[in-house]
Amino acid sequence: MLLVDGGVVLAALDVLSKEIVHAGHRYAVGGLSTVVTRRAAQGRGHGRRLVAAAREAMAVQGLDLGLFTCDRPLRGFYEGAGWRVLPGAVLVGGTPGEPFPSDQPGFDKVTMGDFFSARARGVEPLFCGSRVELYPGEIDKLW
Ligand SMILES: CC(C)(COP(=O)(O)OP(=O)(O)OC[C@H]1O[C@@H](n2cnc3c(N)ncnc32)[C@H](O)[C@@H]1OP(=O)(O)O)[C@@H](O)C(=O)NCCC(=O)NCCS
Repeated sequence: MLLVDGGVVLAALDVLSKEIVHAGHRYAVGGLSTVVTRRAAQGRGHGRRLVAAAREAMAVQGLDLGLFTCDRPLRGFYEGAGWRVLPGAVLVGGTPGEPFPSDQPGFDKVTMGDFFSARARGVEPLFCGSRVELYPGEIDKLW
């Protein structure tokens, strides 16, 4: 997704998605990746606007939930766009053979998310405080 003004890209992000199995159930999950605002245009609300729009787009495209990690200082930025912290949730990225967890040494990540489908809203406690095997692969090891 791009936020464009007069041909200039002010902010950009990727929405990645896949199916996961968590606690024995299958979910369509989306996540945010490569969120960035043009340096000269930072601090004007463009990032928040785009990240909020991505949340709304993900909610209507049939995903059960959104899940991603961010560096702890950015928690407030994402909360301001409607996302929330999933306390104690850890995303396990990479692959089953080469896992890349969000709580590895040297990382200070928080897991953000939102529950879109009625089915997913009912199981929110199963995601908090748990390790979620996301396994997005070897390129975007952790979205
Ligand atoms: C993070 C980033 C996308 C924010 O974009 P932005 O357009 O400058 O953000 P906004 O103007 O929409 O800010 C919204 C709120 O988040 C806060 N915020 C923005 N960037 C922040 C940061 N790096 N750390 C902490 N808070 C931040 C703002 O202070 C603002 O809060 P306020 O409404 O209370 O004033 C931008 O700083 C960026 O491109 N950073 C480099 C890439 C990056 O770190 N991406 C995130 C990957 S997870």
